[in-house]
Amino acid sequence: MEDRELIQAAAKAMENAYAPYSHFQVGAALETENGRIFTGCNVENASFGATNCAERTAVFKAVSEGERKFRKIAIVGGPQGVWTEAVFPCGICRQVMSEFCSPDFSVILGKPDGTIYRYSLKELNPGAFTAEDMSC
Ligand code: THU
Repeated sequence: MEDRELIQAAAKAMENAYAPYSHFQVGAALETENGRIFTGCNVENASFGATNCAERTAVFKAVSEGERKFRKIAIVGGPQGVWTEAVFPCGICRQVMSEFCSPDFSVILGKPDGTIYRYSLKELNPGAFTAEDMSC
């Protein structure tokens, strides 16, 4: 899928965000290596720490459906779902992506004016802690 289409899929997913506490709505769309698209939104909780970000929702949906190889993810978000600026993934989401995605996995951030920012996972999570770090 084209990057701009993946951004649109993320924007659509953002509409389902459950964010009654922060009112900050986020959507993500993840493409697998075989071309399947999994979307996600943030799902907040009254016990704030139980909140799940949009990116992790998408990754967990995909992994729970048997997918473990991914090409790219698009992320959009904004206060009250008003999407104006690029939203970067939080540290926990970067770590979760690093569990399944290669260092050159593409993270695509979009703005409604059509601006697209592309980062590799390696740029966003240098020195990621992975399974290899645990081999003695
Ligand atoms: N959020 C995401 O969904 N993804 C991120 O990478 C950044 C933060 C959500 C979590 C919370 O529901 C709201 O944005 C404010 O932090």
